[in-house]
Amino acid sequence: MELSEALTFDPSDPGFLADPYPTLNRLRETAPVFYDPGHHRWFISRHEDVRSCLRDRRLGRNFRHVMSPEEIGVPPLDPRWQAFWDSERWSLLWLEPPDHTRIRKLVAAAFTPRSVEALREPAHELAREVLEPLAEAGEMELLYDYAQPYSIAVICRMLGVPLDRHRDLLDWSHRMVKMYEFDVPVEAATAANRAAAEFRDYVRELIGERRTNPQADMVTGLVEARVDGSRLSDDEIVSTVIVLLNAGHEATVNTLGNGMLAFARQPEQWRRVVDGVVSPLAAGEEMIRFDPPLQLFERWVLTEDFAIRGEPIPRGSKIAMLFGAANRDPRVFERPDEFDVARENAAQHIGFGGGIHVCIGAPLARIELEAGVEALRRSWRDLHVVEEPRRTGAFVIWGLDGLRLARS
Ligand code: HEM
Repeated sequence: MELSEALTFDPSDPGFLADPYPTLNRLRETAPVFYDPGHHRWFISRHEDVRSCLRDRRLGRNFRHVMSPEEIGVPPLDPRWQAFWDSERWSLLWLEPPDHTRIRKLVAAAFTPRSVEALREPAHELAREVLEPLAEAGEMELLYDYAQPYSIAVICRMLGVPLDRHRDLLDWSHRMVKMYEFDVPVEAATAANRAAAEFRDYVRELIGERRTNPQADMVTGLVEARVDGSRLSDDEIVSTVIVLLNAGHEATVNTLGNGMLAFARQPEQWRRVVDGVVSPLAAGEEMIRFDPPLQLFERWVLTEDFAIRGEPIPRGSKIAMLFGAANRDPRVFERPDEFDVARENAAQHIGFGGGIHVCIGAPLARIELEAGVEALRRSWRDLHVVEEPRRTGAFVIWGLDGLRLARS
């Protein structure tokens, strides 16, 4: 591909979505920093650059604490999707310091090594429990039958959210995360907004219940927490619970889907895990590196002095970091397009981000992936794809529509 072709990068093009890596690779090699006027974004694709942008305090996930939308020519938030904006308002992913520091400190208190470690055994048990009946059947749709119920059960266990509405939780989350894609169609935004309203009502009810009937769980912890002498507001608790529930399963589920597809296509790699040559923990890192469940994260330029690779980028600009491109940077990973579960430096992937927004759930995600793969390794020693899976059509939240697997 010529440079000019690479510069017309379109993340909604079906050809691109069928296999984005050839384009991402060419972009990274030919135009590592480029401005796309169509999408009004600067795309960054090399590992070193993405890593440094994630840690650069001149960039923020939000700009509203230092600039107004009018100042930088950004349209105001569309009032039609107010319930969605309300649900995001206090999400860690929407905040910058000092609010981000305050809320993150509270959430971090629940993600201590000890409390995450306490979920290890339950994660293994839940994985085995969900998988057992499927193993007997000999065929399953990996996402719907296994990864989703398993992953949502783990995060609900951590938060203290009952499992009776787990399909609603998945449905709300799936509809809401569509708002993170480029060019969201009106129907998708309407559905996301409705999901956010329902989700908020549900969490508000839960908060009320925990207030009258406290439990030893994280929702109660957030209700009772005090930072610098004051409590969190209900809106802050609602956003925090929603971001934990949504972030707590979407990426893990898609890592299992993307990763198990890679294994089904390269049975010799699965054999290494099944035979115990490579641990499920190590395999999890390569699954995230090879086909990350989150392909793109954005930052706003907050200062006048920002430049990357000598290219000045004006204040108020939007930067889009391409994780899949960075994870296949040959400057960091040898033979980056190969899925190699024994890769020694797989954990240098960008998959969990970096800087102040680095994934707070990464230690839990690692345990979940390890337990999830371990259970599969034991009962699905030989597996194959029953029908060629389809992608969801979204790029940012990168996953499969489903993955039908059978035992050979
Ligand atoms: C394989 C699984 C996962 C991947 C690849 C992943 C990836 C990420 C990434 C890249 C970010 C940073 C976004 C940015 O910098 O703009 C992030 C943030 C976050 N993740 Fe994860 N995540 C995973 C699992 C989880 C789990 C299991 C939880 C919850 C228990 C979780 C909760 C969060 C939260 C709350 C944030 C926001 C942190 C902040 O803004 O301060 N994630 N995740």
